[in-house]
Amino acid sequence: MKVGGKHYRTVWMEGHTVYFIEQNLLPFEFLIRMSAGYGQTCHAIRTMQVRGAGAIGAVAGFAMAQAFIEAEERRDHSIIEKAKSEIESTRPTARNLFYAVEKVYTAGCTSPAMALAEALGIADKDAEDCRKIGEYGNSLIKDGFRIETHCNAGWLAFVDYGSALSPVYKAHSEGKHIFVYADETRPRSQGARLTAWELHEEGVPHTIIPDNAGAWLMSQGKVDIMITGADRIAANGDTANKIGTFEKALAAKALGIPFYIAAPLSTFDLDCNTGKDIPIEERGPDEVLYAEGPDEKGVMRKIRLASPGSGALNPAFDVTPAGLISGIITEKGVIGATSDGVMGVMKG
Ligand code: MRU
Repeated sequence: MKVGGKHYRTVWMEGHTVYFIEQNLLPFEFLIRMSAGYGQTCHAIRTMQVRGAGAIGAVAGFAMAQAFIEAEERRDHSIIEKAKSEIESTRPTARNLFYAVEKVYTAGCTSPAMALAEALGIADKDAEDCRKIGEYGNSLIKDGFRIETHCNAGWLAFVDYGSALSPVYKAHSEGKHIFVYADETRPRSQGARLTAWELHEEGVPHTIIPDNAGAWLMSQGKVDIMITGADRIAANGDTANKIGTFEKALAAKALGIPFYIAAPLSTFDLDCNTGKDIPIEERGPDEVLYAEGPDEKGVMRKIRLASPGSGALNPAFDVTPAGLISGIITEKGVIGATSDGVMGVMKG
């Protein structure tokens, strides 16, 4: 995707160095960071400098490849197992992370060069899968549609294109007149900060809405379709995504609004039979109690929003049951739901 007229991927690797767009500073500052070793790359995932299921997956694959390279350079193969568990403990919910680490680990058992090739291939495939998701998802978007989305499942959350926003970009590029409602997505505000910034860069008409406005807008006939991303999809179609997705799906179902998930097949985890098997990350209370942003001089400040003396609970994801999902847009087509809520029929 283009930033200031230049094409960027969210994460990439040159030689043994990982490069990524620093997401914690967006939309106030556009900065590319680099990481020379797997430890630093883990830090970037843990602190959400890189975030979003596909981007986390690609960068975790890069980290695993860096570990094989470091192990060979230092002639210390104990690094590999240590690195694998360190990378896997950075973020627990996004399936793409574990998918990429497993694949690169298996390739690296042949040689570090194979690990690197596998990691680069995973990143390329992520971009191509998301491009195809855009094509299939576009077929669901009619001229004039008003689309609601939650969190950021745009190109920043993947290597390129995005999942939920890829159909939006495709529809816009074809000249369809669309409008996007971006849920602000507290507590980290990925919608207000990242989705809104992406849509602005792409020239897509949009507005930010408070997280609690979705049901009201739907009830007023202002939302034609809702599309969100996914962090992990269980075998029965139950889907973990950013906290707040579940209640949007409940509202959409009650009000007869189509609710779609967009995700590559690398987000499916067939070892999870249902959503109950998906591990849900719980993050620290400060994300709820404080907000961060630049003051009038551009200096980043952290201010307390909540009553001093109170703590906060901060589950990062929730699970939307398959029965509330109209379909899952993948790189192979749209998986439709049957009336009993089980995903099954492939279209496309
Ligand atoms: O905690 P994050 O920002 O890494 O959350 C993941 C997500 O980006 C969302 O849940 C998204 O909707 C699905 S992943 C593209």
